[in-house]
Amino acid sequence: MTTAPVTYGGSRRPPRGDYSIARPDYTCDQAWDRYAPQQHALYARLYARQQKLVGGRACDEFLQALAQLDMGAQIPRFEDVCERLGRATRWQIVAVPGLIPEDAFFRLLAHRRFPVTVWLRTPEEFDYIVEPDLFHDLFGHVPLLFNPVFADYMQAYGEGGLKAQRRNALELLARLYWYTVEFGLIDTAQGLRVYGAGILSSPGELTRALTDPSPLRVGFDLRRVLRTVYEIDDFQRIYFVIDGFNQLFEQTAQDFAPIYEQLLPLPPLPPDRMQPGDRRFGVNSTA
Ligand code: PHE
Ligand code: FE
Repeated sequence: MTTAPVTYGGSRRPPRGDYSIARPDYTCDQAWDRYAPQQHALYARLYARQQKLVGGRACDEFLQALAQLDMGAQIPRFEDVCERLGRATRWQIVAVPGLIPEDAFFRLLAHRRFPVTVWLRTPEEFDYIVEPDLFHDLFGHVPLLFNPVFADYMQAYGEGGLKAQRRNALELLARLYWYTVEFGLIDTAQGLRVYGAGILSSPGELTRALTDPSPLRVGFDLRRVLRTVYEIDDFQRIYFVIDGFNQLFEQTAQDFAPIYEQLLPLPPLPPDRMQPGDRRFGVNSTA
C-alpha cells in the first residue's frame, strides 16, 4: 500500500523522503544496510561535533542517557536503540520516511512510539537543516525518552494532540511542543541547561541559547506558552524555562478543554516581548 506524502504545518513544499515505503501508520523499515559508508561517516562527524558542545549545556538527564547510549561511531540500528529504551521506559523508536501528518504523529506518541526519520542530511547541510533528519531525531530527542517523567509527558502530549485536533486547538498545542520538547530550557543548581531537541542538535543554537543576552528567557507558564507565536527558520527570540520535568508534567496534566476555550479567542503573543507576570531569567555567567 502506498501512503500519500504530507505537507506539514504551513509549508507548501512537500516533505523530503520516500513515502512509497510507508505503512498506513506512516512507519517504515529503517533499511540499515542501505546507508553508504559516507553516510555513516557524516553521522559520526555530526555526532562528535555535537557531543563536544553538549557538555555543560545540556541537562544531566540528557548527558547521562547519551553517554550510556554510546551511539556515535556509526548510524545505529534502530532496533538496538529501541531495545534499550524499552527496558528503561517502555518507549520504542520507529522508523518513518520523514515528517508525518499530525494525527499519525500523535497516535504514535500516545502509544509510546517515537518516530525517527530514516534519511540523513547531505554534507552541504552539515551546519543547518530545515527539516528534521535522522541526526536531529535520534541525537536530539531519544536520550530524554530514557527519563521516566519526560517519557510520560511525551505520551500525554500525544494523547493531548488527538484531543486538541478535535477542538481545533492544534495551533495552541503545537506551541507547547515547540517551546518545551524542541526549545525548552531547564533551571538547575548549576544554572540554566538545555533539554529541547532543536537546540541540542544544532551547533549554532546550542552555543548561544544559554549565554546570548538578546533572546528572552521566561519562566514556564502554560497559558503564556500556548499563546506565544514561534518562528521556525531562525534562532529563537524567546525560551521558556522549566524548573524540572515534574513541573512540566504537573502543569500539563490538567484538562486543557477550558483553557482552549479561554485562549482561542485571544490574540497570540509575539515572541520578542515581555508580558505582565513574566518571570525573567538572566544568562549563565559561565559556560
Ligand atoms: N492535559 C492535556 C489535555 O487535557 C493533554 C496534554 C498533556 C497536552 C501533556 C500536552 C502535554 O488536553
Ligand atoms: Fe524535533
